[in-house]
Amino acid sequence: MHTRLLSPDDQGLAIACDWLLQGDVIAMPTETVYGLAGDARNPAAVARIYEAKGRPSFNPLIVHLPDRAAAEKVGHFDGKAQALAEAFWPGALTLVVPLRDDAGIASLVTAGLDTVALRVPAHPVAHALLERFGGALAAPSANPSGRISPTMAGHVADPETGLGGRIPAVVDAGACPVGVESTIVGWLDGRPALLRPGGVSAEDIEAILGEPLLRPELDPDAPNAPGQLTSHYAPRESLRLNATDRAPDEVLIGFGDIEGDMTLSASGNLIEAAARLFDLLRQADALGRPIAVATVPERGLGAAINDRLRRAAAPR
Ligand code: TXA
Ligand code: MG
Repeated sequence: MHTRLLSPDDQGLAIACDWLLQGDVIAMPTETVYGLAGDARNPAAVARIYEAKGRPSFNPLIVHLPDRAAAEKVGHFDGKAQALAEAFWPGALTLVVPLRDDAGIASLVTAGLDTVALRVPAHPVAHALLERFGGALAAPSANPSGRISPTMAGHVADPETGLGGRIPAVVDAGACPVGVESTIVGWLDGRPALLRPGGVSAEDIEAILGEPLLRPELDPDAPNAPGQLTSHYAPRESLRLNATDRAPDEVLIGFGDIEGDMTLSASGNLIEAAARLFDLLRQADALGRPIAVATVPERGLGAAINDRLRRAAAPR
């Protein structure tokens, strides 16, 4: 695949929007870093984001919206969240708030959590693209997993260290003015907490809140940090991996040749499997029976799928 650099004008944004509407992923500038954007309502598009990044696990993604009104259709904002949105949006602040039941966001975006990370970016090109697209865009930083975040279109398009050849397009708006990711604020037992330092200072946030932020000693990107443990999707009953058949009371989630009561992908397609993963785990869990899951190959998105399944199966 050839990665095109698109100009940030009407013509470039029209092409970018076409890719997004057909479920593909493209890189877009934001004021913090370049993001790898896909339609947050389309599970296959979200799976492509993880695939392009080569992410070994499904960390929940930030959902980007054109304005506060759109954000309030996706998450519930209490008084403090409203005050922070009022003060810092559009801008380099991400708020992790309870997900609305009718949000319509693919479960892969939130990794099955009942909270969602929301941001209204201040970059005029990101804003224009969001307005034109007319929906929510899930976007992690547009770097391969484990590499540093890109602040120039050329970083993204580089075939060696970036995503060149893996995505159809990058909207090129030059250097990102902030250059570090957004600050992430969430709530722990009802108290505002700094989940990731970033483009908006903690002091400025505390000045609006009138109280100190909790500072959990965690790195949201570290797999073993407490933040990751809370995102660990644990079904109520046990989960058995590498199943080839079902025990009498089990519900079997199939893959490829293993049919099951439901299937991640009958054709063995890993993008389809990733897109369905959290919905199927939820559906299986709702049946209140132990869950068995067929073997998913470790290649491509399979590594991320297996990472989640192993966490869900871990003794607790
Ligand atoms: O500046 C930014 O925030 C950039 C630009 C593109 O907007 N995006 C970005 O996304 O840095 P990403 O995926 O690299 O970082 C998302 C972070 C992850 O560390 C994830 O754990 C956290 O947000 N996150 C997302 N949803 C969450 C949730 N529901 N609860 C806790 N943490 C969440
Ligand atoms: Mg990142």
